[in-house]
Amino acid sequence: MTRPIIIAGNWKHNPQRIPGESLFREISEGTISRLSADGGDSPVRVVLFPPLPWLGWFVSNASQFDRSAVEIGVQEVSDRPLGAFTGEVGAQLAQQFGAEWALVGHSERRSIFGETDPQAASRVKAAATAGLRPILCIGETLEQREAGETFEVVSRQLETGLSKLDEEFEYALAYEPVWAIGTGRTATTQQVEEVHRHLREVLRRARGASADEVPILYGGSVKPDNAQALLGIDGVDGALVGGASLLSASFLGILDAGIATA
Ligand code: PGA
Repeated sequence: MTRPIIIAGNWKHNPQRIPGESLFREISEGTISRLSADGGDSPVRVVLFPPLPWLGWFVSNASQFDRSAVEIGVQEVSDRPLGAFTGEVGAQLAQQFGAEWALVGHSERRSIFGETDPQAASRVKAAATAGLRPILCIGETLEQREAGETFEVVSRQLETGLSKLDEEFEYALAYEPVWAIGTGRTATTQQVEEVHRHLREVLRRARGASADEVPILYGGSVKPDNAQALLGIDGVDGALVGGASLLSASFLGILDAGIATA
């Protein structure tokens, strides 16, 4: 079974508008030239997760640039329907403004905003039923790793996070050890490989044969100089990139590594 390689950039709460416009254009043009040079039928997909106002910008500037090579996602999605929910942005609205993907359960949402596994489950379901592809983010903290709880923590996050999702929907997972996010510290090849293998087994137990179609990305301080090693690990189907997605040269360097290992 061939899974796509997904190179995803999570801009988080960055950058400001003017540099963001240039960043988007540079990433978009760099992606088009690379994927078309690859014969136009590359297994590599590029997804960007900018802050929400960018969805409106894409809609109002749609005629000015080619967005065909870069898919867009939202960093968070509400599980509420339309209604009196001040401040919320639901999956359906995000989808109508051009989003195709949604991150769910990112560790910053969990640790700073108190999101729980049951909330992640509702958001995964809301995203998928509105036609978005959720990427459920899971990963252990340093204390949990040092206490030997890594497998237990990621299994629980995976099983609960997917518990409301019906079989037919497309989704992905991102393994992001919390201690590697934004710290410059990456997990070793062995650590990544064993957690990805474990996640695939848990996924097979929970969801049967369809588990093999689900891409599992790695995230946590992915940079151009470690991307080839990380993306070359058996069972790693792409990267979720934070800091290095804010510079076009470094994000495109990671994309080059993805193309080289595909
Ligand atoms: P980082 O972030 O690449 O800056 O470590 C990854 C993420 O939070 O998804």
